[in-house]
Amino acid sequence: MRYVLIGIAMMVFLVVSLAGFRGDISLKPPLEVFADMDRQPKLRPMEPNSFFANGMSSQPLVNGTVRRSNPIALADGTDVYPFETKHPAVSGLQTGTTNAVATIPLEVNMELMERGREKYTISCVPCHGGQGDGNGVVKYFGISAVKSLHDPDVVKQSDGDIYRTITLGKGVMWGYANTLSIEDRWAIVAYARALQLSRLGTEDEVPVRFHVKETEEAEASVTSEEGQE
Ligand code: HEC
Repeated sequence: MRYVLIGIAMMVFLVVSLAGFRGDISLKPPLEVFADMDRQPKLRPMEPNSFFANGMSSQPLVNGTVRRSNPIALADGTDVYPFETKHPAVSGLQTGTTNAVATIPLEVNMELMERGREKYTISCVPCHGGQGDGNGVVKYFGISAVKSLHDPDVVKQSDGDIYRTITLGKGVMWGYANTLSIEDRWAIVAYARALQLSRLGTEDEVPVRFHVKETEEAEASVTSEEGQE
């Protein structure tokens, strides 16, 4: 027992002599066992820097600098840049109001739909499911509160409402402004509308060859199949 106590005392002595007491003020750099890139030869934006005559690390932009981004072509033939954050196509809000825009401001064509399908499959399917009914794979891992996009609440929302849900998130769902571009988000809205339509459409809107057979005909085919067995 004596040796153990002496051992502990020596350990304490060793640690204190190396690391010092908590709260001690020292001018020496702290002991770093693993430096973990704590110190890097880089400049943070507001750090002083003796290299430039004005002593600043980040230099003011040259006069006439233009923000870099690509314009987004809108259905009405005009263009909008992503940094025009007050524009309805970017904010999803009608100018000067807090009402969401009624319809997708981009031209809705097959290309946009395909893009929407691709992006929906990447970003939304895990939770909302391939059919948008909220039966994504996360359900099997205990997240069951995912809303169905066929929910009447969502169906009656405007395109801008859905765009804003994707942009800002809603409740426990996070926003996608950082990972999906403005076009991607509108494309997903278009695709989500197509998913909704897939359950709202009437038989007349579907080519005849996909129509469900008349009852008698269907029964007849069932009986003939039974006969074959
Ligand atoms: C991590 C899981 C998750 C992902 C990924 C996700 N959502 Fe959601 N979403 C939710 C949950 C949960 C809700 C219900 C939010 C609430 O009401 O608290 C929801 C709600 C919604 C709603 C209904 C909002 C309302 O007004 O009630 C829409 C529309 C929607 N999501 C669209 C999308 C789209 C489009 C994507 C892909 C860009 C997406 N979600 C990705 C989990 C997710």
